[in-house]
Amino acid sequence: MARFSLLVLAALIIAAAASSSWHRSAVEAAIVDGLLQVGFYDRTCPEAESTIREIVNTDKNNDPTIPAGLIRIFFHDCFVKGCDASILLDETPTPGEETEKQSPANGFTLNGLSTIDVAKSTIESLCPRTVSCADIVAFAARDAAVAAGHPGYPVAAGRRDGLGSLKSSLPGNLPGPGQGVGEITRVFVGKGMTQEDAVVLSGAHSIGGAHCFMFSDRLYNFSAGADVDPAMDPGYAGMLRTVCPAPGSPDGEDPENAPKVAFDARTEQRLDTSYFVEVLSRRGLLGSDNALAEDPGTRPLVEALARDVQLFHRKFAESMQKLGMVDVLVGEGNGEIRMDCRAVNTPGEQVPPTLPSDF
Ligand code: HEM
Repeated sequence: MARFSLLVLAALIIAAAASSSWHRSAVEAAIVDGLLQVGFYDRTCPEAESTIREIVNTDKNNDPTIPAGLIRIFFHDCFVKGCDASILLDETPTPGEETEKQSPANGFTLNGLSTIDVAKSTIESLCPRTVSCADIVAFAARDAAVAAGHPGYPVAAGRRDGLGSLKSSLPGNLPGPGQGVGEITRVFVGKGMTQEDAVVLSGAHSIGGAHCFMFSDRLYNFSAGADVDPAMDPGYAGMLRTVCPAPGSPDGEDPENAPKVAFDARTEQRLDTSYFVEVLSRRGLLGSDNALAEDPGTRPLVEALARDVQLFHRKFAESMQKLGMVDVLVGEGNGEIRMDCRAVNTPGEQVPPTLPSDF
């Protein structure tokens, strides 16, 4: 079996739902036939999950911005070529081509890459050539959510690592900060996910932040009739203008030093519902955040999530599990278990596929 598409998963679920004996969740359905499996490394590398958790927690204690970065790496990995750790490659085997990492949509805005490096090298020393980088990214994203206050969820594993990474794969596969609900939904549906997943997972913007150049078009020369986006609370816009230079000004153009603003300044490091409360109060940072509250199709869910943290946490877990199934590489002969997450193995380093724990 090559890439296991969520469309196939959907077909499985529909077929199975017709049976009255069906009580499994979508995620359990995806695990059918050992494609991905919770506890995949129980026999081959029993320390894997606890090791990753400890490293994420240690890094978070040293740098509280790490959990947000890890969750975003997972999202950007899975939406471009599937959850295959292609985002981690420093070089692509195709000569002269740039990698996903070198796209402006990733670039220096990726945070947490060194946490993945430490996790991989630690796990390689415990269980060489066994745990894929794609699985480490999925585990680390879950552990990041937990470090930010989420109660946690099981992560099915068994993904294999991709053999290439191209910057040219990004366009059309990631939503942009100025996009509306229609465009965002199209991107998610293209991955076998739903508009609801897009709203729920945007709740990840409860932690972390965005560089000014991602949204400063909303603060200056917005339109012929309005300097500031009228959809933004004027007091909030005024505060943001004190931090963010206008697009095109020299300060704003220096990518490495561009100011970054918290999505949810009230609880910047807590994965809670206040992101949804903020967007309902017209204090969403990105145009895309604001669109979720303005669009009549998504507003009711934003309101429900704003009211109920347990609902948010439950749906966030389900959507993260679905995200982790997008176009995964599974099975013998597909991809590899990279020894270093930043580089594909050289021919002499190719290793046989890792078997699930009950083989
Ligand atoms: C729905 C459409 C989405 C758009 C348009 C969008 C766009 C963005 C942008 C522009 C940034 C700021 C990057 C920077 O300046 O450093 C960002 C940050 C972030 N995004 Fe999204 N995003 C979306 C959905 C998601 C989803 C689905 C997730 C998680 C599953 C996610 C997780 C994050 C996190 C955690 C950050 C903060 C990163 C950090 O502070 O290091 N986003 N997003």
